[in-house]
Amino acid sequence: MTQRRALITGGAGFIGAQLARRLLDDGATVDLVDNLSRGVQDELLAELSARPGFSVHVADLRDPSSLGVLGDDYTHVFHFAALLGVQNVLERPNEVLRENVTMLTAMLDLAGRQQALERFVFPSTSEVYVGTQQFFELPIPSPETTPLTVSALDRPRTSYMLSKIYGEALCHHSGLPFTIVRPHNFYGPRMGLAHVIPQVLQRIHDSADGDELVVYSIDHRRTFCFIDDAIEYLVRLLDTDDAVGGTFNLGVQSPEVTMGELGELLCRVVGRDLRIVPGETAPGSPYRRCPDMTHTIATTGHRPAVDLESGARRTYEWYRGNVFEGDGISAR
Ligand SMILES: NC(=O)c1ccc[n+]([C@@H]2O[C@H](COP(=O)([O-])OP(=O)(O)OC[C@H]3O[C@@H](n4cnc5c(N)ncnc54)[C@H](O)[C@@H]3O)[C@@H](O)[C@H]2O)c1
Repeated sequence: MTQRRALITGGAGFIGAQLARRLLDDGATVDLVDNLSRGVQDELLAELSARPGFSVHVADLRDPSSLGVLGDDYTHVFHFAALLGVQNVLERPNEVLRENVTMLTAMLDLAGRQQALERFVFPSTSEVYVGTQQFFELPIPSPETTPLTVSALDRPRTSYMLSKIYGEALCHHSGLPFTIVRPHNFYGPRMGLAHVIPQVLQRIHDSADGDELVVYSIDHRRTFCFIDDAIEYLVRLLDTDDAVGGTFNLGVQSPEVTMGELGELLCRVVGRDLRIVPGETAPGSPYRRCPDMTHTIATTGHRPAVDLESGARRTYEWYRGNVFEGDGISAR
């Protein structure tokens, strides 16, 4: 097998940096590109930077001239940079649509110029199923073959999933050896603070026994996938030609937990005895979300190995040391 030369955009972020570490461990060379708008140059990037075959380019993918430093001999291009997060989506839908499509188009062009490209990986999102859930009967667990519904175009929340659906179509018509993945609620160390698990961990960490823990959308059900399992799926998809041209849910099919059960589990992890109190239901948040993992498991042979409680403990240990009681450098 020829040595893999990987380019990861958004590589300072949550998934990109963990993937970089794994690819280096497996003998690849890795270039990261990130504008550090969300990702941070912290201990993990310092550790990776000390390793041979690794480099970081601080560049903004919205500026095509910034791509000039990148080579033409990547075998694998992972386009993970995106404008995401509920706050961006609700407050800046115009930028979410335009920037996600602009960045993807630039990266598809760059991937098309590579001399020996083996794979272009594009992360879509579990949000692509939301329109079908709102207006039709969505099968749950949801298979990748579910017909997608694009509606409510005037709603800011639609912007992110629409940019991803359009992105999926761009991949299909790119002529490249692509793989599309649809991540469902990954969690783990170094994911920022704009996601439910680190947010709830922080609130519990800052509470005392007997305090209330207000849980929003308390009866909504989700599954959560620890980052190590997500990375295992990703690298195994690279190892099989069956994944070329395919679309794969990435996540965990069971157990489904309610937000209330998640709150109880996280209290156990932090070691606090709190009273769980129902809060508001977040507008636009689907009642239930769960990927059908049959296709991905059959293609990769991997089944999730990290259960929710163990993953939550590892996540809490990292956040306690690095964010809640640390220097906070990795907090955003
Ligand atoms: N984490 C999940 O559970 C999840 C779920 C669904 C989809 N995804 C998708 O996976 C990808 C990676 O997600 P993540 O959780 O690692 O997000 P992240 O925010 O941690 O990483 C994205 C990175 O992209 C960088 N970036 C943003 N705009 C840029 C620009 N103009 N130029 C250069 N870099 C830029 C950010 O600084 C950040 O480091 C995204 O495309 C996201 O839409 C993730």
